[in-house]
Amino acid sequence: MNDTIRILQLSDTHFLEDGADPEGAAAYNTDEAFDAVFRHIGEHDDLDLVVVTGDVADHGRRPQYRKAAEAFSRFSVAVNVTPGNHDQDAVFTASMARPSVSTSRVIEVGAWAFLFVDSSAGNLVIDATGRAVDPPEYADRLHSDGSLGTAEAAWIRDMVSQVGADHVFIWVHHPPGCPVGMLNAEAYNAEWADVLGDLPTVRGLGAGHTHAPDTYEFMGRTVHVGPALKNNFDLTKNTWLPPGYRSYTFDADGTVQSQLQLVDDDRWPRRPFGRAMRALFDGELTFDDLRAIAERKALEGA
Ligand SMILES: [Fe+2]
Repeated sequence: MNDTIRILQLSDTHFLEDGADPEGAAAYNTDEAFDAVFRHIGEHDDLDLVVVTGDVADHGRRPQYRKAAEAFSRFSVAVNVTPGNHDQDAVFTASMARPSVSTSRVIEVGAWAFLFVDSSAGNLVIDATGRAVDPPEYADRLHSDGSLGTAEAAWIRDMVSQVGADHVFIWVHHPPGCPVGMLNAEAYNAEWADVLGDLPTVRGLGAGHTHAPDTYEFMGRTVHVGPALKNNFDLTKNTWLPPGYRSYTFDADGTVQSQLQLVDDDRWPRRPFGRAMRALFDGELTFDDLRAIAERKALEGA
């Protein structure tokens, strides 16, 4: 019997409504990118699951989720999805579900339990009925850093103690301990350091959010950051990267291996990016600063 579990991770799919423009040169057509990734994956008889780690929809709108759900339904294996900061809590849960596409929070396979953590949970607000809901202004979720909050952190601890599996792996949108400078994530990292310090069976994490695929260590665990479909960057070579996904194997002894898979194509050349983009990733410019620079350059070129 083969005890190895095989999973593919997509992240930051950023689906748009039909006919909606990607953000000029700053974004890929995510329908095209999904088709290219889907073809690259091909037929897999040996896959156990496909996971998607957030920013499923570009603006958290129902038609964008409908398109995402249709796209994910093309896989011949089950797909499980967790939200990102671009998503919207209720519409995400209500609009993604299909017979083979779920928003489950815990999935056990063999010796492994996979937890799907909402890294925007700490940014939700309590409504008059006592439910945790999205803040009234979409921007307050969109522009917030990751935040577990006390309830999500307690939920992780509870699930790790409840599951029967020997090994736990966590899927989450915002990567804890990420070296990318634009993330102002001290409080978020502290939340994770607290949780992981008490949970030795958590073997690693798979995340997204930065659109800069990476692998690094945090609290003795490997964090794998998956590529986006919207745009991707290589922060070592200062170039754009094509869209892609990550493949994973999980062995019964607790070993995790992951490989970055990028879909090179003329549509997504690995061209260098400029100083302004570098400054954004280094945390020296904001998105608004970058947008203002792009608009000024467009005017100068007009
Ligand atoms: Fe994203």
